[in-house]
Formats: sequence, structure tokens, C-alpha cells
Amino acid sequence: MIQLCRCRDYEDISQRAAELLTAQLTWKKDSTLGLATGGSPVGLYRKLRERFAEGLVDFSEVKTVNLDEYRGLAPENPQSYRYFMEENLFRHVNIHPENTYVPNGLEKDSETACRDYDAVIQRLGGIDLQLLGIGRNGHIGFNEPSDQFSSGTHCVKLSENTIEANQRFFERREEVPTEAYTMGCGAILRARRILLLASGRDKAEAVHAMLYGPITPQLPASILQLHENVLVLADEEALGQ
Ligand code: PGA
Repeated sequence: MIQLCRCRDYEDISQRAAELLTAQLTWKKDSTLGLATGGSPVGLYRKLRERFAEGLVDFSEVKTVNLDEYRGLAPENPQSYRYFMEENLFRHVNIHPENTYVPNGLEKDSETACRDYDAVIQRLGGIDLQLLGIGRNGHIGFNEPSDQFSSGTHCVKLSENTIEANQRFFERREEVPTEAYTMGCGAILRARRILLLASGRDKAEAVHAMLYGPITPQLPASILQLHENVLVLADEEALGQ
């Protein structure tokens, strides 16, 4: 079941998400968090850094698995998702680096990269809380619209729509990687709780289809309708209001 929480704006989303994550870590100090990159969680990570500085949240026992990584980018590349996580959260809080996992973008053999990552998720005992954004085309992680739902970690060719949306983080369009490793929809669905953040008018169509449309791999986020515990924090613009 998807629960929808209407938020005023991006700031409101970030605040509520930070409260929820803090509550999760108070309840279970050694939670495994599934984390996301992109614009949607930046405000949340800022608030978590602030909360950590105030002594309100403790990451010492937390483990994290990120949704995805560009294939071919090194961790120290500023456009990589590993770098994003270091800058936005990890290096500011007391998380142990060895407890943070992001798919290995430098692993050329995609079978190895994907198998290794699925093994990590399994070894951690699954994901307690998975954080998600949503793409303009309804993707979650880098699970792009397709003819079937994916299960485990796999290598994807990014859609034109996604490359265009991600271009804002790169100087030139040619620099945007065209492939990525991503956790599958099956793995996302196996998380015990899911928290999806959606802000801005360009998400309105995808959010509406996710909540009220048919469950279809053409709109990967629609599979969340099958999950028992999903909270969507969406602002007025993302709800088309
Ligand atoms: P965004 O991306 O948070 O940068 O809008 C979300 C997504 O593409 O999943």
C-alpha cells in the first residue's frame, strides 16, 4: 500500500524525511539503509548532517547500500554516485566507510559487478528502509521503462530522457555516461519500508501514474503499489497542484 503525504515544498519534504530517518535509526541503530542520489535527497542529507552535528542521530552501526552507479566512473570522479554520497553525507557523519556500499562502476564485467552487489545486499540481511527518488519517466534507481520488471542488480542502458535529465550535472552532454549498474525492482520491493521523495512539476505525471495508474514495467515505480509499506513524500508541484 502506498501512503501519500502532501508536503508544502522541497524543504518540507526534506524535513519530514529527515525526521523519519532519524526515527528509523532511533528504533534500529544498526539499520541497513538503501540510499539514493540525485537532486531529491540532497536536502534530506543536509538535514541529516545538521542533526548529526547536533548529536541527534548516530550512524556508527548503520550500513548503507546505494541504488546505482554509472558504469565506467571511478569513485573519485566528482560525477560518480560514490563521490556524491561522500560529499553529501558519508564524510560528514560517523558512518564506518566499510559499511557503505555502492555498485563498483569500475568493474568492467557486468555479471561480476551485479552478482557481487546482490551478494552484499544478501549478506547485510536485506534493506530495512529504502530511499527513492522518481525519474520523469517513472524510473526508480536506474530501472528504466521496459517490457519487464527487473529482479536483481543489472546493467542498464540509460534512456535518452534520463541522459537529458542528468545532463545538468555534467559540462557536456557527451560526458554523461550511457550505462549504469542498478539494483533491480525486485530487490527494491524486498526492502521492509520504502520512502520515496518527489518534488517539482516535472515529476507530476510520473507521480500520478505511480499512484493511480496500472502496474506496468513501462512505469517502473508503479510496482510500488504491490509493497505493503511505502510512504511517498510529494510536494504540491509534484502532485500537480
Ligand atoms: P532527481 O532524480 O532526484 O535528480 O530528480 C530522481 C531519479 O531520477 O530517480
